[in-house]
Amino acid sequence: MDPKKSQDALKLQAAIASLQYIEDDTIIGVGTGSTVNFFIAELIKIKHRVKACVSSSEASANLLKAGGIEVMELNNAGTLSLYVDGADEVTRHLAMIKGGGGALTREKIVAAASQKFVCIADETKLVDVLGKFPLPVEVIPMARSYVARELVKLGGHPEWRVKEIDGAMKPVVTDNGNWILDVRGLTIADPLALETEVNQITGVVTNGLFVKRGADVLLLATPTGVNIIFKSAQP
Ligand code: A5P
Repeated sequence: MDPKKSQDALKLQAAIASLQYIEDDTIIGVGTGSTVNFFIAELIKIKHRVKACVSSSEASANLLKAGGIEVMELNNAGTLSLYVDGADEVTRHLAMIKGGGGALTREKIVAAASQKFVCIADETKLVDVLGKFPLPVEVIPMARSYVARELVKLGGHPEWRVKEIDGAMKPVVTDNGNWILDVRGLTIADPLALETEVNQITGVVTNGLFVKRGADVLLLATPTGVNIIFKSAQP
């Protein structure tokens, strides 16, 4: 089978497995990305059971609304019982790198405001050590160059995230109006310490290490089924 198709089949399996965590008539936190898009499609099928959602991005909000699900502001929703999102990398201790899709800050906020974080992923996302995937760092635009120099001091190789628009390379602008640095080459031996250290750089909005608030449950889809991995004490 085409590898993309088989990976998509696994993403769908993880998304379906997460439906068991939904309690009727509650407000659900919804992440961002291709795996979450499968979750949103499944959620729309059972929308009669969903009171509303809080979204981590404009992209997911648009999909939810198009499917007839109400999207609420987090400020009006209180503590959420459940947040479902994907990951770019995840360890067996449920620490993650996220933000490949640029939604890391809102994802971190909704995750923080949720009682349970269920991570849905295909088996390609599981790693022993985080850091092969470049670490996304959202920055206030005027601080980009300063933050990049500070990240170099930490041993990283930051790259300004750009995309082609009308034939010209333009900065990727987040839903919050900020820019993203993708940092390669960091040694992530202590992910919690690095998450804190990068967040302390003035001008950083947040970084894509999700360790302080990692996932509580990982639904890891493999060709032989979905493995359920719970958070252990060790980070
Ligand atoms: C979005 O900013 C990201 O954090 C995504 O959750 C993460 O990149 C996983 O995306 P995919 O499901 O598309 O791999």
